[in-house]
Amino acid sequence: MEWAGKRVFVTGGAGFIGSHLSAQLLSLGAHVTVIDDLSAGDMERVPNGVSIIEGCITDSASLSNGMQGCDAIFHLAAIASVPLCEADPAWSDKVNLQASLEIISTANCPVIFASSAAIYGEPVEIPITENHPITPVGYYGHQKAAIDATICSLGSQSTPASALRFFNVYGAGQDPSSQYSGVLSIFIERASTGGHITIFGDGEQTRDFIHVSDVVQALLLVGSSLLDDGVSSPAHASAFNICTGSPVTLNEVVEVISSQVGREVTVAYEDGRDGDIKHSSGDSTKLQSTFDWRPETSLTDGLSSLISQSN
Ligand code: NAD
Ligand code: UD1
Repeated sequence: MEWAGKRVFVTGGAGFIGSHLSAQLLSLGAHVTVIDDLSAGDMERVPNGVSIIEGCITDSASLSNGMQGCDAIFHLAAIASVPLCEADPAWSDKVNLQASLEIISTANCPVIFASSAAIYGEPVEIPITENHPITPVGYYGHQKAAIDATICSLGSQSTPASALRFFNVYGAGQDPSSQYSGVLSIFIERASTGGHITIFGDGEQTRDFIHVSDVVQALLLVGSSLLDDGVSSPAHASAFNICTGSPVTLNEVVEVISSQVGREVTVAYEDGRDGDIKHSSGDSTKLQSTFDWRPETSLTDGLSSLISQSN
């Protein structure tokens, strides 16, 4: 994988996944520029050596400033919270949909887009393959699905592009401060500080948690293939699930966390969240058979490392 000397533009690079990706690109010798409006990001997360544009992707001038002369674009900026998109669909339409379309239509280099398992909606078949029906619920899912579909329908005259459908990503640096943060970051923060965990519903819902380092590896492999082979890459105009294929229930997660912190963690059960999906479990065979990718970090190891960092 040859990233040394490449000029890479990362939208949402001050966010959870974007900052991990930027750090990895930097360590591989790439020249990295990040754009972030800091609505959910934190410049403290961005490693030294990365160029920063503090701006909004809906602002064409800021966007073209970052895209100018770059070799690849990782497009991760989004209003990543489902409830925030529901609260302001007009704004999330501008950010998640229209700005994404602008990036794809004006890019002169490969674009790797952060899609989401949310585009599948309530699954009709488990595990979810890329051929599962696209039946998103809510604005966030519909906006992600529209960009994902645009990429999948690109032809050979377009810019090379690919959509990676992330399942539930977790890892260091995921902000636990909001009730809508990723569930594992909230659970670990509560367990480590002696607070109680709240489970919405009966805790028997399943999620396919994928460690951020495996997500970054998938982004780099797909980006690398688009860089090398352009529209002839098997990743062009294609979408890939990024998941482990090993779902767990929230009750099981609490058991693992309890055993790792060395005491019983108190759990309060509350009503399920509106629009919550019961089961989510992906199949990443397509990515595994197209590229040499395997999820490397088990949930037990990932949780253990997060718990030791939070102590
Ligand atoms: P995040 O909120 O930590 O990162 C998104 C970043 O985009 C933030 O730093 C935010 O400030 C920035 N941003 C938002 N609106 C912007 C705008 N208008 N202009 C410029 N910057 C803007 O979220 P994340 O978990 O790192 O997610 C990254 C991407 O992956 C998102 O597109 C998200 O939808 C997608 N995704 C994440 C998950 C997950 O489990 N974390 C799952 C599926 C898909
Ligand atoms: C997540 C992503 C979303 C992505 C989708 C892909 C986050 C914050 N959201 O949504 O961007 O598109 O996966 O499939 O990463 N829960 C509790 N207690 C809590 C917090 C949550 O029980 O304190 C429950 C929720 O009700 C839900 C599960 O945990 O059943 C997971 O919630 P969450 O981490 O918010 O992720 P998703 O809703 O799956």
